[in-house]
Amino acid sequence: MIDTGRCDQLTKKLRIGIIGTGGIAHAHMRAYQKFEDVSIVGGADIIPGKARAFLDEFGLCKAESFESAAAMIKNLELDGVSVCTYNKTHAECAIMALEAGLHVQCEKPMSFTLAEAVDMVRASRRSGKILTIGFQPRYSHMRRKVDEIIASGTLGKIYYVQSGGGRRRGIPAGSFVDAEKGGFGCLGDLGCYSIDECLHAIKYPKPLTVSAVATDHFGKNPQYWSDPENFNVDDFSVAFVRLENDITFVFKQAWAMHADSLGDTLWLGTKGGIKICNGFEDPSKPSRVMCFMDVNGMQTDTYVLPSNMYDAYRGPAEIDIFAAKVRDFCDAILEGRPAPIPGEEILYNQAIIDGIYRSAKEKKEIVIDIPSI
Ligand SMILES: NC(=O)c1ccc[n+]([C@@H]2O[C@H](COP(=O)([O-])OP(=O)(O)OC[C@H]3O[C@@H](n4cnc5c(N)ncnc54)[C@H](O)[C@@H]3O)[C@@H](O)[C@H]2O)c1
Repeated sequence: MIDTGRCDQLTKKLRIGIIGTGGIAHAHMRAYQKFEDVSIVGGADIIPGKARAFLDEFGLCKAESFESAAAMIKNLELDGVSVCTYNKTHAECAIMALEAGLHVQCEKPMSFTLAEAVDMVRASRRSGKILTIGFQPRYSHMRRKVDEIIASGTLGKIYYVQSGGGRRRGIPAGSFVDAEKGGFGCLGDLGCYSIDECLHAIKYPKPLTVSAVATDHFGKNPQYWSDPENFNVDDFSVAFVRLENDITFVFKQAWAMHADSLGDTLWLGTKGGIKICNGFEDPSKPSRVMCFMDVNGMQTDTYVLPSNMYDAYRGPAEIDIFAAKVRDFCDAILEGRPAPIPGEEILYNQAIIDGIYRSAKEKKEIVIDIPSI
């Protein structure tokens, strides 16, 4: 049976509210506004006037604004919410909405601490409502192809995974560099994406231990960041993570560094390997994804091309991955499907982030202990 919740019976529109109307809320709004079967009926932000200005910016003068998520949830008949607050208030807002019987799309990273993430999953289980986490790169064509190749088993048993990429110069401003709001820096911002890219492809094995280092050499240097006094998060971190089934995960991420890349994203299997080449694009190469296998006893290196080989250099038209993630959330509500990117799965992502954060602070290896839900 289709469970449309409180979906507006006359217009058949999903009624969505946005909690936190800062930077990323704009991308959520732009995505929702593409869909005729969705109405943004309210917005809430703790900064007085901010939600009203946000709704007006999008011409939604009839949508109601609130200065707390609680007031919006109490006063509006909603089907679901987007939680677009900074990291440290994801959990309280998501749990409040779930407990009120609303479906939740929560921005990444899932939360600040692992304990918060556990509470979010528990709230979702209790309410039976969707808790999906906003990892839009999952909808990219390239990611899907890599995931498909790994899932096919062609590469044998995957025993080693490493993240790559990183920014040469790219410290973001605002709540991202404020530990009071963001909790952590690059680790929670880019790091959660790296972990999802590496581990979703191998079905998120359970993390066991982590040993990590985090630094702030760029954020604390006035040559690279204008307000070093108020920079109190990491801008680089690296970790050695043991996963179940004897899989090793080497994590690294940077908002700033003296290099073009921290290397390629790589999965090594007993029968083959696959890598996403990071750093500057080489226009002479047809693809960023390469497979390494032995064929008839010979070592072969293969570029993974888009399905239309005549388009190999351009790749297939990229879909709007942000709109795709928002649409998937809406469809999951309308069709009574489970969460597209379930909190249960991202719990392991959060456990690793939490472990890296604590290991770097305590300067020792951490045993990851995930409470049962
Ligand atoms: N998916 C993506 O591509 C992407 C991109 C950027 C940011 N993000 C994530 O989105 C989140 C927000 O980032 P941002 O750049 O929009 O931050 P921001 O600081 O611009 O906006 C956050 C807003 O939330 C409000 N807020 C905080 N706590 C609240 C609460 N309890 N109730 C109501 N409002 C509250 C703040 O007042 C602020 O206006 C972060 O977790 C970030 O990691 C995701």
